[in-house]
Formats: sequence, structure tokens, C-alpha cells
Amino acid sequence: MTIIVGGGICGLGIGWHLARAGHPVTVLERGQAGSGATWASAGMLAPRAEAEPAEERLIQLLLEGHALWPEFVAELEAASGIAVDYRGEGTIVVALDRDDAERLRFQYDFQQGLGLETEWLTGYAAREREPHLAREVTAAILSPRDHQVDNRKVAMALRAAFTGAGGTLREHTEVTEVLFAGGRVRGVRAGEAELEDDTVVVAAGAWSGDLPGLPAEARPPVRPVKGQTLALRMDRTAPLIRRVVWGPSVYLVPRLDGRLICGATVEEAGFDTGLTAGGLMDVLRHAWEVLPGIYDLALIESWAGLRPTSRDDAPILGQSSVPGLVIATGHHRNGILLGPLTARAVAQLILGGEMPESVRPFGPERFARAGAEAAG
Ligand code: FAD
Ligand code: GLY
Repeated sequence: MTIIVGGGICGLGIGWHLARAGHPVTVLERGQAGSGATWASAGMLAPRAEAEPAEERLIQLLLEGHALWPEFVAELEAASGIAVDYRGEGTIVVALDRDDAERLRFQYDFQQGLGLETEWLTGYAAREREPHLAREVTAAILSPRDHQVDNRKVAMALRAAFTGAGGTLREHTEVTEVLFAGGRVRGVRAGEAELEDDTVVVAAGAWSGDLPGLPAEARPPVRPVKGQTLALRMDRTAPLIRRVVWGPSVYLVPRLDGRLICGATVEEAGFDTGLTAGGLMDVLRHAWEVLPGIYDLALIESWAGLRPTSRDDAPILGQSSVPGLVIATGHHRNGILLGPLTARAVAQLILGGEMPESVRPFGPERFARAGAEAAG
């Protein structure tokens, strides 16, 4: 039996895998399932466009996670009956001046060194593909294999697939303590109720490090990193862009229903999810510089979410130092992209006792090791 704390893409995804395998599993979610970072996200599946030097090992994991998406979408849509709007038009990263172009060239050389399939474009060639891009666009990288999905629909679909496969979902149920006995996990407390189980998965997103009851040595080093985002309304029959576009300090993600997601700030603000004039102004200004045509669009929504960010920006996946306590968090900017991989890897651990080889370097013990090395 397994209890999962947190009903985001990680918790629901792991739960769905376990339920499909006939394993009894309960997801406990404090609010509504999928209403955390999974709802706030932009849904980009972009291991190449977001690739950064010094993250080579993480990039390999992101590429592996990316490759699982087409099959994941097919299975999820079939199981739930909900279309999740997976789009494969690709991504363009643009430069607006000479400094940006130099930085982009460095990024392109880095991508090429890793054998990533990206293409260098002149400003003219970028505007041939996306005619509404600003005239200031001087150069761009086209990444045809970096895709996107409607993350909110993924959450709805996972919820339906999980319960449809026999999993138990308890929403509006906050885990107030993780319980231990005899040196191993025993279950959780949720208000007055105690639920006993021999495996507990911590998939509580940005709140994972603060879950009451966790012993210090098993507490994942995760903090919230705030992102303010807004949505504009395009004409869905004549959208301003069809690909995901990245500019300096901004991304624009066109949805099939005509929404244009513009995001996002990256702020160390604790658990505050308030919107600020400055945050939204920055996003809008950067978006307008890349795509001036947004000026006349209707602003239809704005929100802020909390990325669950680990000390090294990579996910924390695997068995903790306490028997029965499994960690699945810390996905930072790539939790949607890594959702299917996380689900498969953690379910494999619970059902078969082992993580896949490629995921093992991302276990919780790497932080204890780093701490010991620093101390000694
Ligand atoms: P969450 O979705 O936050 O789920 C955790 C759940 O746990 C929450 O629903 C919460 O209510 C619940 N919970 C917490 N504590 C308790 C408790 N005590 N008891 C019960 N339930 C509890 N990733 C990408 O791959 N591509 C993107 O384009 C992208 N864009 C992003 C843009 C923004 C603005 C943000 C904020 C994030 C973005 N991300 C993106 C990152 C991605 O959204 C996250 O990494 C991912 O959603 C994390 O999923 P999760 O299931 O771990 O956490
Ligand atoms: N991956 C986009 C973001 O985290 O804002």
C-alpha cells in the first residue's frame, strides 16, 4: 500500500502508474488536485531551448523525459477521454540586439556540442517562420523538437485516469504529520485521522521540505521560487505565433484555444503568491519587445505559482534515508517535462525496489554526500 502526499503532476502521475499496476494507492491533496505549480506552469517541454552549461547530466535526463511524452499523451488521452493539446510546432529563441545575439551564439555552440538538434536563424529567417516577431529580432535559434502541452488539461486528465484506474484521491485533505515507528515510516496524519501505510511518497511540490514530522536527515532541500505569469487572448483562427517563442527574460506560449501565456518572473519570495505591478510589467514589457502585436490583445488572466526548487535545480527522486519514505520533488522549471519520467521511475522503485539507472544520480542521498564532503 502507498500514500502519496500531493496531487500535482508528480503525485497523480506516480499514483496512476501504481493504480494501473493494481497496487493500492491513495493521493492526499490539501486543495484541489493539480492546483499547485502544475496549474501555474506554462507547459513547455523544452530540454534543448532551456539547456544551460554545467547542467549536462540534467539535460540528458530532460531529453530522456521528453522522449516519453508522445506515448504518455496517447495513453493519458485514451484513459481519461481528455485531450491535452500536445503541440509539436517547436520553439524559437530570439535575440533583440548584438549582446543577445552573442549570448545566443554561445548557447547555440553549447547545444551543438551536445549534439542537440537546433538550427541557427538570421532575424529575417526567424520572421519568415513567425512573421509577427519584432523587426529588432537580429538572430534566433530554432528548436523544432521542443514542444508544449496544456498543463492544466494534463492535470485534469491525470486526475480522471488515476481515479479511473482505481486509485483513491482525497482532495481538501492536508497531511499535518508524517508518522514513523521503529525507524521506518508508518503512515500520515491528516487532521484528526491517521492513515497507516508502509510507503509514503513526498510529492508536495514547493512545500515538500516543510512537511511536518519529517526527520531532518530525510527533509528534501526544496524551496519555493515564485513565477508571475499572465495570459492574453489572441484570435484563435489567426494567432500571432504558432511556435513557443523565448526572448530575453520572457517566453510566450500560444495555446490552441487562442490564449497566449506570457511568463514568468523568477523570484525568491518565500511562499508569497501575490501579484505585483512590477512583476507583471516586466513580463509584459519583455513580451511586447519580442512580439509588439500583443499591445492590442485583451489581458484575460494573471497568476503566480511556486516552482519546487532543489539546491542544485535538479529533481530529487528516490528512497530517502528512512525506510518506506520516498521523495519525488525538486523539479524546479521542468516538472511538467519530467512528469512522465518521474511517474515511471518512482512507480518502478515502489513496485520493483529499483530506480532506473539514469535516474539514480538524482537521489536524495546526493545532498547528504555533498554535506559530508563539505564537512570533512
Ligand atoms: P505541485 O504541482 O505544486 O503539486 C504539489 C501539491 O502538493 C500541491 O497541489 C499542494 O497543494 C500539495 N500539498 C502540499 N503540501 C501538502 C500537504 N501537507 N498535504 C496535502 N497536499 C499538500 N515546468 C515545465 O516542465 N515546463 C514549463 O513550462 C514550466 N513552467 C513553469 C512556470 C511557472 C510560473 C511555474 C511556477 C512552474 C513552471 N514549471 C514548468 C515547473 C512545474 O510547474 C513544476 O516543476 C511542477 O508542476 C511540479 O509538480 P509537483 O507535482 O511536484 O508540484
Ligand atoms: N520553465 C519555465 C518556468 O519555470 O518559468
